[in-house]
Amino acid sequence: MNQDPKVAIIGAGCSGLTAIKHLIQAGVRHITCFEKNGQVGGTWIYTARESHSSVCETTHIISSKKQSEFSDFPMPDHYPDYPSHQQVLDYFRAYADRFKLRPYIRFNTPVHQAQPLPDGRWELSFGNPRMVQVFDYLIIANGHHSKARVPKLPGNFSGRILHTHQYKTNRDFQDERVLVVGAGNSGCDCAVEISRVAKEVSISMRRAYYIVPKFMMGRPTDTFNGMLQYLPRAMRSYIQRWSLRFQIGDYRRYGLQNPDYPINSCHPVVNSELLYKIRHGKVHPRQGIQRVEDQTVTFADGHREEFDTILYATGYQINFPFFDKKLIDYSEADRIELYLRMFHPEHSRLFFLGLVQPQGSVWPIAEQQAKLVGNYIAGRCQLPENIAELAKHEADQIARDFINSKRHALEVHFHPFLQKIKSLIPKDSPEWDDSRVPTAPSLRERPIWDKTKNQIRPVL
Ligand SMILES: Cc1cc2nc3c(=O)[nH]c(=O)nc-3n(C[C@H](O)[C@H](O)[C@H](O)COP(=O)(O)OP(=O)(O)OC[C@H]3O[C@@H](n4cnc5c(N)ncnc54)[C@H](O)[C@@H]3O)c2cc1C
Ligand SMILES: NC(=O)c1ccc[n+]([C@@H]2O[C@H](COP(=O)([O-])OP(=O)(O)OC[C@H]3O[C@@H](n4cnc5c(N)ncnc54)[C@H](OP(=O)(O)O)[C@@H]3O)[C@@H](O)[C@H]2O)c1
Repeated sequence: MNQDPKVAIIGAGCSGLTAIKHLIQAGVRHITCFEKNGQVGGTWIYTARESHSSVCETTHIISSKKQSEFSDFPMPDHYPDYPSHQQVLDYFRAYADRFKLRPYIRFNTPVHQAQPLPDGRWELSFGNPRMVQVFDYLIIANGHHSKARVPKLPGNFSGRILHTHQYKTNRDFQDERVLVVGAGNSGCDCAVEISRVAKEVSISMRRAYYIVPKFMMGRPTDTFNGMLQYLPRAMRSYIQRWSLRFQIGDYRRYGLQNPDYPINSCHPVVNSELLYKIRHGKVHPRQGIQRVEDQTVTFADGHREEFDTILYATGYQINFPFFDKKLIDYSEADRIELYLRMFHPEHSRLFFLGLVQPQGSVWPIAEQQAKLVGNYIAGRCQLPENIAELAKHEADQIARDFINSKRHALEVHFHPFLQKIKSLIPKDSPEWDDSRVPTAPSLRERPIWDKTKNQIRPVL
C-alpha cells in the first residue's frame, strides 16, 4: 500500500464534504475534490433555473434535524425540526468552514472521465481545458437526484410535460389543470404546492402508499420511529402501523387504497399536507395511467380527465457520466451489488458515498461511510475477502425487504445500516484534532462572481 496515497473525490455536496473531512482526520494528505459547481452544497443549492439541484423554492427536508445532523457538528439550536433548503445549505457551508475543507476543492472543475488503470489506480480527465491526473483512490460523491427518470406514456399527450427536477415554483401553474404522476416525496410535495394556485390538481399513484405525517405523537416521525428501533421488527411495524391508524384512520376515507405491504417495505412518503389537501378537494387522488390521448388521460379504473400539464414525479436515475457504460452503469438497475452500498467487488480502489436511500437521513450514513473509507485508505482496517458474496447477499436482502421498484435499488433501514458501518470502523481511529490538520494543498476556491445577481454563479 502506498504510504502517502493520492485521493480524488467527485462532488462537494454533503457526501464529498464529509469525505474530505474524514480523509484529513484519518491522516490522508493528498486530497483533491473536484466540483463542477462554484460552491459547496450540491442538491441544496437552490436555483431558480434548472440545475444540478432538484429542490424547489419551498422545500423543507423530511428527515428531522436531530436525525440528520453530522455526529460532531450539530445543527444550530434555532433551526426548526424540519429546516428549509436554505438552512440546510447554510449548515453544509458552515461544516466546510468549521473543518476548513474548501482549500481541498477544485471548484468549477467537472470530471469528464474516470477510468481504471491496469494497476488499479484511477485516471481522471477534468476541467476546461482538459487535464489528466492519476490517483491511487477514487471516491464518487456525485449525488443521485439530478438525472430525471422520464417514463414513456401509453399514448401521446399534447399538453405540457415536465419533471419535478424542473419544478421550481408553483407560479408556472396558475389556473392550470395539472396531473402529477408518482407519489414519492417529490410528487406529494409538488401536488400540495401546485394546488395552492392551480385550477385542479390530480395525483396518479400506481400503487397504494403509506402517507406518513411529519409528526407522530408530537415528535418528528423519524425520531418517534428511532425510539422503536430496539424492538423486534414485527412489533415495531405493528406499533408504527397502529399509531398511523390512530392519527390518520383508513386511507380509503381519502380516496386512496390501503397498502397491503408492511410499512417499512417502501421508501417513506412523509407529508402532513397531502391528506388535508385531498379532504379539502384541492388534490384528487387517481389510479395509475392506462391511456393518454391529446389532453385526455384515462386511469386504470376507467376515469377520464383533461389536463394542461403532466408533471412527472417519477424519480431519478443513478448517473455516472464519467464512467464508460460498459464499466459501471446503474441507470436502469433494480439491483446493485455493492458491499455496504459503497465497496465495488471488482474495483478495490473505488468507493461510493451517499449512494444510498435510507428510511431516514442520508447525511449521518455518508459521514460514517466516509470515516470507514478514510481509515481503510489510511491502512487502519481491512475489508472482508468475500466482498462479492457479501454484496450479492446485501442486494438479495434489499430485494426481500423492499417492494420491487427501481426506487428501492439503494434502499436501506437507517438504524441497522448505520450501526453496521460504525461497527467496522476501527476503535483506534483518530478523532478530529484542529492542531494536527495539515496545511491544505494549493487548490484555491475559484468561484465565478455573477455581477448582475451579486452572488456566486453555480455552474449549470
Ligand atoms: C427535493 C429533495 C429533498 C431531499 N430531502 C432529503 C432529506 O430530507 N433528508 C435527506 O437525508 N436527504 C434528502 N434528499 C436526498 C439528497 O440528495 C441527499 O440528502 C444529499 O443532498 C445528497 O448529497 P450528495 O453529496 O451525495 O449529492 P449532491 O448533493 O447531489 O452533491 C453532488 C455534487 O457533485 C457535483 N458533481 C456531480 N457530477 C460531477 C462531476 N462530473 N464533476 C464534478 N462535480 C460533480 C455536483 O455539482 C454536486 O455539488 C433530498 C433530495 C431531494 C431531491
Ligand atoms: N421534502 C423532501 O425532503 C423531499 C422532497 C422530494 C424528494 N425527496 C427525496 O428525494 C428522493 C427522490 O424522491 P422522488 O419522489 O423524486 O422519487 P421516488 O421516491 O423514486 O418516487 C417516484 C414515484 O414515481 C413512481 N413511478 C416511477 N416510475 C413510474 C412510471 N413509469 N409510471 C408511474 N409511476 C412511476 C413511483 O412508483 P413506485 O413506488 O411504484 O415505484 C413513485 O411513486 C427520495 O429520497 C425522497 O425522499 C425529499
